[in-house]
Amino acid sequence: MHKITMLGTGLIGMFYTMVLHGLRSRDQVQVVYSRSPERAAKFAGEWNIPKWTTNMEEAINDPETDVVVIGLPNNLHEQAAVAAAKAGKAILCTKPLARNAEEALRILQAVEAAGVFHGYLEDLVYTPKTLKAIQSTQKGALGKVLWARSRETHPGPHSDWFWDKEQSGGGAIIDMGCHCIEISRSFIGKQVKPLEVMCWADTQVHPIEAEDSAVGLVRYASGAVGQFEVSWTFRGGMDLRDEVSGTEGTIWLNHWLRTGFDLFTSVGEGGYVAEKAEGTTGWMFPVGDEVGALGYVEMFSDMLNALDQGKKPIEDFYDGYVVNAIMDAAYRSAKSKQWEPVILEVWRGDSEADTSGLLRDYDNQHYLIKEEKMPDGRIKFILKEKVGGKVVQKVV
Ligand SMILES: NC(=O)c1ccc[n+]([C@@H]2O[C@H](COP(=O)([O-])OP(=O)(O)OC[C@H]3O[C@@H](n4cnc5c(N)ncnc54)[C@H](O)[C@@H]3O)[C@@H](O)[C@H]2O)c1
Repeated sequence: MHKITMLGTGLIGMFYTMVLHGLRSRDQVQVVYSRSPERAAKFAGEWNIPKWTTNMEEAINDPETDVVVIGLPNNLHEQAAVAAAKAGKAILCTKPLARNAEEALRILQAVEAAGVFHGYLEDLVYTPKTLKAIQSTQKGALGKVLWARSRETHPGPHSDWFWDKEQSGGGAIIDMGCHCIEISRSFIGKQVKPLEVMCWADTQVHPIEAEDSAVGLVRYASGAVGQFEVSWTFRGGMDLRDEVSGTEGTIWLNHWLRTGFDLFTSVGEGGYVAEKAEGTTGWMFPVGDEVGALGYVEMFSDMLNALDQGKKPIEDFYDGYVVNAIMDAAYRSAKSKQWEPVILEVWRGDSEADTSGLLRDYDNQHYLIKEEKMPDGRIKFILKEKVGGKVVQKVV
C-alpha cells in the first residue's frame, strides 16, 4: 500500500485520484496540494482525502506519504520533482516531463542522483488496445516497422496556462506531440535512436504566441519514420488515432470518436459526455470507461507494481527526456524549415540500428519487388535483375 501526495487538483489530478482510489483499493491519496484553499478543501472532501494544504513543500514532505504525483502545469514540474527527490520519495510525473530537454535532463539527473523511483505518466501508451498492439508488433506481426503515425487533435485545452508559452513551454506540440511521439517510439522500438525531425507548425486560429497546429516527421536510425499530427483547432471532439505499418502488416487504432458507442439525442441528458466533447445533443460518442480507455488504469498498475517489485516501469523519466529532446528538434525545424538533429546528451539505447536491406529473392537472377493477382486470374511478378538492376515483369 502506498500513501500518496497529489500535487494539483485540476483535470489530471482528478483523473489520477479517481484511478488511484478505484484501482487496487489499497493505495490512498493522503494529502492534496492546491493553490486555493477552497479548491483544495473541496477536492479533499470529494475524494475522501484526509489532508489538504496550499503549501507545496509541506505536501511533498508530508511524513506519511512515500509517493508524490505531479499533476501541475508544465513550468512547475521541475520544482516539484526536485523537491520530491530531495524528500527521497518515489515520483510519478505527468506529461510532458518538462518544457524542454534541458529542463527534463535536470529533472532526470535530480531523481537519479537521489536514487528515487521515477515514472513518466504517459497514459496513451498504456491503453489496453495500445499495449496489445505494441505486444503484437514486438512479436513480429508487422515485420519490420516502417511508419508509425499518431494523431491527437481537439478544439484546445481547458485552462489558461496551456495557452501561455512561458508556462507551458509551447502549444499543441508540447501538449499533445509528446503523446504521439512516445506512441510512435513504442512501436518503432524505444532502443532505436531518433535522429532528426522535420516539422511544420503554425498558429492557424487562436490569438496566441504558440503553435495551435503541427505535423512532424521523426526519422529513426532503423529507417523508420514516426509521424505526429497535433492540433488545437480540430472541431468535433477529441480525435485520437494511431496507424502503424510494417513490411508484413498494419495496425489501425481509434481511441476516442467512433469507437463503437454512438448515441443520438435531441434533448441531451444534462451531463458530461466525454473529454473535449463539443456538444450535448445530436450524434455523440460517449466513452464507457474513460480512465480505462485513456490508459490511466493500466498505467498506475504498472507504476505501483514496479515500485512494489523494485523494477523499472514501462515509462520512466528517461523516456520523458527523450520525448522532450525530439520536441525541441521539432520546434527548431518549424523555425528553420530544415531537418534538425535530435540532440541527446544522454543516449541509453542501441548505438547501431538494423538498417539491413529487405531484399527478397525471386530466383538466382532476380529480386522480387511485387506480386499481384490480376482480375483475369494472371499473376504478375515485378522483378529486379540482380545484375544491371533492370526492372522487368513476368506474367504466369
Ligand atoms: N493525458 C494526460 O496525461 C494529461 C491530460 C491533461 C493534463 N495533463 C498534464 O497535467 C498537468 C496539469 O494539467 P491539467 O489538465 O490538470 O491542468 P488544470 O489547469 O486542469 O489543473 C492544473 C492544476 O495546477 C494548479 N495550478 C495552476 N497554476 C498554478 C501555479 N502557478 N502554482 C500552483 N498551482 C497551480 C491549478 O490550480 C490546478 O490544480 C500538465 O502538465 C498537463 O500537461 C496530462
